[in-house]
Amino acid sequence: MLLAAVEGRMADVSIFSPASPQAGWIVDLAILALAIIGIIFLVVEGILFYSIWRFRRKKNEAPGEPAQVYGSEPIEIAWTAAPTMIVFFLVLVTTRTLWQVEAAPVQPLEGDQSLFVTVIGHQWWWEYRYDSYDGRKLGFITANELHIPIGDGETQRPVHLTLQSGDVCHSFWIPRLGGKVDLIPGRSNLLSFETEQPGLYLGQCAEYCGAQHANMMLRVVAETPAEFEAWLANEAAPAVEDPAVAEGKATFLANSCVNCHRVTGTAAQGNGAPDLTHLMSRDTIAAGQVPNSRSNLRKWVHDPHAIKPGVLMPAFGLSSEEENQIVEYLRTLK
Ligand code: CUA
Repeated sequence: MLLAAVEGRMADVSIFSPASPQAGWIVDLAILALAIIGIIFLVVEGILFYSIWRFRRKKNEAPGEPAQVYGSEPIEIAWTAAPTMIVFFLVLVTTRTLWQVEAAPVQPLEGDQSLFVTVIGHQWWWEYRYDSYDGRKLGFITANELHIPIGDGETQRPVHLTLQSGDVCHSFWIPRLGGKVDLIPGRSNLLSFETEQPGLYLGQCAEYCGAQHANMMLRVVAETPAEFEAWLANEAAPAVEDPAVAEGKATFLANSCVNCHRVTGTAAQGNGAPDLTHLMSRDTIAAGQVPNSRSNLRKWVHDPHAIKPGVLMPAFGLSSEEENQIVEYLRTLK
């Protein structure tokens, strides 16, 4: 838990270090707006402090209010017109940036070098349905860690996300890759971005969605096309069959785990919780909350509420031996 926390703090989540053109346009707008607002602040505060100093009560001035005068028409017109123009300008540049980052919906095409993923927000984790890449249909499902390919000087590799919700409103926000977009029950929102910088991008659900909203973290792994293809091939493959953990698999399949979780190629076809087919290809569990280690998996299977209080998965009261068997089985799902 400590490790994840330290890593989270160290990784850059500042909007001021954009890693995609879309995040770049947003930060340009933010700096422009901040500059205008900063100048207004300095001018207003300057006049205020000058007036306090200039019109302070002199030593032998009589107490009481100074003479009251009604203002001047030209000044009143000027200070109505100037703010109106400034607000109008800010509306224009904001609208331009909105149009820029809100790419028109596109359809997958043969050889388009584009990734299409449907993101479904759940209390409190992310479901990723990989739809297509480079025009190829994918059709596998994973959770919490989104892998994307990076582009290079010649080829852009855009990522098109369709954002939906399985329960309440959530908001998808990776500050270095793009703006915030909400996941709203009953509708689909779109978010597109691309990056040329490999690495791990962190984010956070940005819309209050219940007790564990703060622990609904986002992880995006941007990797070279070759690494991404290797990851795709692994994720698309059925779950590993290891006879050494046959007992654990049987225990897993005999319990209620199968009602919510999915492991392709087995009877576990649940839809309500993270797909576990390639659980061990993920670095963290519980939506980025803790590292994916044997001890954390054991803790989670024993009582998920010890890690994520309020999580929908209950503690099943399995025997210690059953818990160990299940964890050893899960550990083989590479
Ligand atoms: Cu999901 Cu906040």
